[in-house]
Amino acid sequence: MYRFISSAFCALFVGLICSTVASASDTVAGKALYDTKSCMACHNTGLSGAPKLGDKKAWAPRIAQGNDLLLSHAINGFSGGAGTMPAKGDDATLTDAQIGDIVAYMVEKGK
Ligand code: HEC
Repeated sequence: MYRFISSAFCALFVGLICSTVASASDTVAGKALYDTKSCMACHNTGLSGAPKLGDKKAWAPRIAQGNDLLLSHAINGFSGGAGTMPAKGDDATLTDAQIGDIVAYMVEKGK
């Protein structure tokens, strides 16, 4: 009986850890999406004022505004003076969670 209870607890515990990890942004999935969706078209080259992927100087002040604002700008669109970031990079098929993964990847590269 004791063994059963403790293994049930273990399973619950592992389940909790797994779901925590799964809900965090996934930079591997983010990279795959970045490379195949519209994002790279502007952010690889800096087209129309887009902060380039991996350009730490361009990303530092953006990262400093905090992840929530950064994400909201990517989801809802943003014109901050450098150019215009279209809502979801003009790809409405992307979910908010997918945008979150891509932004996490872009932030990781910009650090
Ligand atoms: C048509 C070009 C274009 C495409 C496509 C595009 N972006 Fe952007 N993005 C921009 C520009 C321009 C800015 C800078 C806007 C400014 O600061 O004035 C920007 C800024 C951003 C920022 C920073 C926002 C901030 O608060 O500083 C993030 C994050 C971002 N884009 C994510 C994405 C993601 C994710 C995708 C793909 C789903 C994407 N972009 C597709 C042009 C683009």
